Amino acid sequence: MQGAIMPAPHVYKEATLATMQPEAGDYGLIPNAALVTAGGKIAWLGPIADLPKPYASVSSTNLAGRLITPALIDCHTHIVHGGNRALEFEMRLQGARYEDIARAGGGIVSTVTATRDASEADLLKAALIRVDALIAEGVSTIEVKSGYGLDIDTELKMLRTARQIAMHRPVRVLTSFLGAHAVPKGANADTYIDDACIPALKAAHAEGLVDMVDGFCEGIAFDVAQMTRVFDAAKALGLPIKLHAEQLSNIGGTQLAAKYNALSADHVEYASEADAAALAKSNTVAVLLPGAFYTLHETQKPPVAAFRAHGVPMALATDWNPGSSPLGSLLLSMNMGCTLFGLTPAEALAGTTRNAAQALGLADSGTLAAGKRADLAIWNVATPAELSYGIGINPLHARIFAGQAT
Ligand code: NIG
Ligand code: FE
Repeated sequence: MQGAIMPAPHVYKEATLATMQPEAGDYGLIPNAALVTAGGKIAWLGPIADLPKPYASVSSTNLAGRLITPALIDCHTHIVHGGNRALEFEMRLQGARYEDIARAGGGIVSTVTATRDASEADLLKAALIRVDALIAEGVSTIEVKSGYGLDIDTELKMLRTARQIAMHRPVRVLTSFLGAHAVPKGANADTYIDDACIPALKAAHAEGLVDMVDGFCEGIAFDVAQMTRVFDAAKALGLPIKLHAEQLSNIGGTQLAAKYNALSADHVEYASEADAAALAKSNTVAVLLPGAFYTLHETQKPPVAAFRAHGVPMALATDWNPGSSPLGSLLLSMNMGCTLFGLTPAEALAGTTRNAAQALGLADSGTLAAGKRADLAIWNVATPAELSYGIGINPLHARIFAGQAT
C-alpha cells in the first residue's frame, strides 16, 4: 500500500514450524526453526542453522520451542445474524426435529425476522463479539455469509455489516451471498429465486459486497434446478460458488457444485462415493461441519474414507450460526472433526489452514512458505496434534496478522 509503513523484518527463533505445505506430508514439520517476516509476508523459513546472515542482526523473538502454524481460517460461518434460537434447542431436546421446526415456520426463517429487525450497528456489535472469540484462537480469516435477510435490503445490510468487520478488527473477511438459504414465509420458492434472490445478488455485487455465492440445496430449501439459476447468475457476474449440499439428504447438490467447479461443497454428510469422485475431478473442497452434525444429533457421517481415496481436500469450519451450529470455537471443530468424523489431527489442521484457504480461493494463505502472508498462530504446545486433542482448551500464545502481533 502506497505511503503505508511496512513492518520491518522480524525473526521468530527457536520455534517448531508446522508448514502445512502439501508436498511435505502431514504437518511439514521443521524443528529448531526460524521464520522471518517482512513487509507483511513470510520472507524466509527453515532450520535455524541455515538462517541467512543478514537476518542474524534484525529484531527477534525467542519462542522457546513453541509451535508456529499458519493462522487458522474459518471458511464457513453465519456470524452476522440477529437473535438466537435457544428455544429451538429446548424443543429439539424434547424430540422436535430440525426439519420439522423449519417446516413449521421456525428455524432459519425465525432468524430472518430477528435479522430484519436489527440495525446494522446492532448486527455489527454482535458479530464483533463472535469475531473476537475466533481471533482469540488464532483465526486470521473468516468467511461470512448473508442469508438471514431473504429480501434485497436485509441481504445487503448483512453483507455491509460483514465488510465492516475488517475495519474494526485485524482480520480478513470474505463474504458469501446466501440469498438462496431458505424460502421466506408465504413465498413461492421459484418466484423468490427469480424475483428477489437473483436481483439481490446483482445489487450486492454492484456494491462490491460479494466475494462468493452460496446456497442451501436441500428438501427444506432449494432444489438443483433452482440452485442452477442462482449459479448461472453468479457465473455471469464472474463470482465463484460454494454450496450447502447433502446435509440432511442426497438430492444432487454435490454433483451440481462439482459441475460448476465450486470452491467447496459444505456439510456433505449424505454425499456418495460418486459424489466424492466428482468433487475430486473439479478440485472442490469438502467442508466438514461437525458442529451442525453434533447439534442436530445426526448419525450420518460424511464419507471421509471416500474423500481420502479420491483425493478430495477436506476443510473444517465452525458453521457458527444460531440454529444448527452455535459453535464459537474452531479448535473445538478440529477436535470434533477427529472424534466424530475420524479425521487425523494432521487432516484437522490442514482443514483449518491449507484446505480452508482453498475453500475460499485464497492462494496467499494457509501454509507457511516464503512469499505467503505472514498470518501466523504461535501456540503453547510442542506438537501439532495437541491442537486437536484438547477440548475447551485454548493454547494460543500469540497471533500475527500480516506480520504484526495483534
Ligand atoms: O449451515 N444448512 C443451512 N444453513 C445453516 C443453518 C442455518 C440455521 O439453522 O440458521 C447451516 O447449518
Ligand atoms: Fe452453513
